[in-house]
Amino acid sequence: MSFADHYLPEYQRSMSSPEAFWREQAARLPWFVAPQTVLDEQQQWFADGELNTCYMALDYHVEQGRGEQVALYYDSPVTDTREQWSYQRLRDEVAKFAGALQAQGVGRGDRVVIYLPMIPQAAIAMLACARLGAVHSVVFGGFAPHELALRIDDAEPKAVITASCGVEIDKVIAYKPMVDKAIAEAKHKPQAVIVYQRPQCQADLKAECDHDWQQLMATANAVGCTAVNSNDPLYVLYTSGTTGKPKGVVRDNGGHAVALNYSMQYVYGMQPGQTFWAASDVGWVVGHSYIVYAPLIFGCSSVLYEGKPIKTPDAGAFWRVCADYQVKAVFAAPTAFRAIKKEDPQGELIKQYDLSQLERIYMAGERLDPATYEWTCEHTAKPVYDHWWQTETGWPVCANPVGEAAQRVKPGSPTFPVPGYQITILSDSGEPLKPGEQGAIAIKLPLPPGCLLGIWRNPERYHDGYLAAFPGYYSSGDGGYFDEQGYLYVMGRTDDVINVAGHRLSTGEMEEVIATHRAVAECAVVGSYDEIKGEVPVAFVIIKNQMGVEQATLQQQLIEMIRADIGAIACLKHVYVVNRLPKTRSGKILRRVMRQILNGESYNVPSTIDDPSSLDDIAAAVVERKQSA
Ligand code: COA
Ligand code: AMP
Repeated sequence: MSFADHYLPEYQRSMSSPEAFWREQAARLPWFVAPQTVLDEQQQWFADGELNTCYMALDYHVEQGRGEQVALYYDSPVTDTREQWSYQRLRDEVAKFAGALQAQGVGRGDRVVIYLPMIPQAAIAMLACARLGAVHSVVFGGFAPHELALRIDDAEPKAVITASCGVEIDKVIAYKPMVDKAIAEAKHKPQAVIVYQRPQCQADLKAECDHDWQQLMATANAVGCTAVNSNDPLYVLYTSGTTGKPKGVVRDNGGHAVALNYSMQYVYGMQPGQTFWAASDVGWVVGHSYIVYAPLIFGCSSVLYEGKPIKTPDAGAFWRVCADYQVKAVFAAPTAFRAIKKEDPQGELIKQYDLSQLERIYMAGERLDPATYEWTCEHTAKPVYDHWWQTETGWPVCANPVGEAAQRVKPGSPTFPVPGYQITILSDSGEPLKPGEQGAIAIKLPLPPGCLLGIWRNPERYHDGYLAAFPGYYSSGDGGYFDEQGYLYVMGRTDDVINVAGHRLSTGEMEEVIATHRAVAECAVVGSYDEIKGEVPVAFVIIKNQMGVEQATLQQQLIEMIRADIGAIACLKHVYVVNRLPKTRSGKILRRVMRQILNGESYNVPSTIDDPSSLDDIAAAVVERKQSA
């Protein structure tokens, strides 16, 4: 595909004739009732279409003769298990589990919270909800009970689906006690808790609402697909915002299917029948879109990998999976490749595997630093594609057109806007900026199909968080700039969100947890550069007068509180006790400057600072950290 012959005309058509463009894409899918209206006055896509996402992902392919093709490869080095699920087998299992859910009272529009590790039952549960027209809300297994409780209270699910345990590199983590704790904390009580028992650990099913997955399946009847409207929600996926309350991103059925189907071909260059591997977790948007829905809707085989890039058993794990399943395109966070690079700097393990079928490597979820990009290109000899997107968009906003990578890539940039997205860089006052000028990355409304419908039961939060800053635009929360050649550079979040190992976390939420400690008068959490995880949180706290707490004890207690309330993935390891926090005269904590000092970057002392000498405390903390490292 060449830039001038393909990308530009495709992009320009998506801008000049969006309705014709997306009508064509919609026509590629098997709707129950094909949409007549592409974009209505409320800027909703395909509003009069009817479909079922599970039908598009499974039944349709079985009807088209793909029944024997592998839909899902389950590869679990942590349990030494491999399974192959054909489209037929997966369809049958999903239809039956949908019957089991229906027997528990779950129907169209009901919510179901899914808290499962990376096992096929996670995909089965998601697809079974889709089959019934129910709305799933998957919660990443690394989140602590409190986080699960917050999501249960917001989504108000009829059922919660979990497993007896998750298996990490060196430990078995019992899930059921965490679910019990979350339900005890939550105000909303689900009618049913369905538990998939794994051999590594048996869960106690004592409560009246507890059910054993396998037992329910023994008597369940397979059910068909419920037709839903295009804009009925398929799922709610919670993501971090600036406050302690996560935001429930709502995804539709129709626009989602159209956008994902398009992306498989345009962004990922796949053909039906080939194997695609997103090395993420179903708890994140990458897992929703590119482990489950997109590969299946498009007719690919998808890999569901329960392991890590390293230590399961070594840094050759990714290459082994690519070789074993003849993966055409693999997608992971840069963190994963940084971890591999650290363990296998010369790429010796790469040479042990036949990667002749692997055509492209994709990275997203956080900034792809040029060093990781160069290392991966050099040692794999494959084109590496950086692409930028968010939970809210559900699919890539900016990506290198397939086939262009070798010639057009500029390390550090996810290259060009994907057809459908009109990206503009805006100043604080909403003026469009020139190439080279850094500002807020905004997307002109309407967003293309597949992007969020809103925030679950909170239209104000959607409006205030995304639409109010720049009327007529969606504000991404990322800052960046275009260069003269139209390459976008994403420079990081402009809000209090940090990216720890590709996991999006809210520093505001961590501050809320830390502030509950009886000895803490005030605190600020900022992201600090980390060689492997990209960013890790660092907390600065001011202790209340006369509290007489021992600093080391306090630090340990705060670290434990974050683990217990948010989860181990938050990775808070450093807490500094300071006398002052730098603030503006109006009392706003200058987190950006704190972060710059912490990361050894140059910074300007803002003219609005109340007490410039407060920056010395931060600088002293940095010195202390360096000395202790
Ligand atoms: N369930 C329960 N606990 C989990 C978990 C899960 N699904 N995932 C992670 N955790 C825990 C880990 O056990 C660990 O706990 P510990 O502090 O008690 O050891 C903690 O959360 C941090 O885990 P992780 O972020 O995985 O760090 P790590 O140091 O164990 O591994 C990497 C480092 C780089 C290998 C790992 O972060 C990784 O694979 N990153 C890629 C992330 C990714 O794919 N992100 C996707 C978004 S697209
Ligand atoms: P999430 O919603 O968890 O997918 O996280 C989205 C955020 O991750 C974005 O808003 C960016 O800050 C960051 N991000 C994702 N992909 C990239 C990328 N390719 N380059 C830079 N930042 C990225």
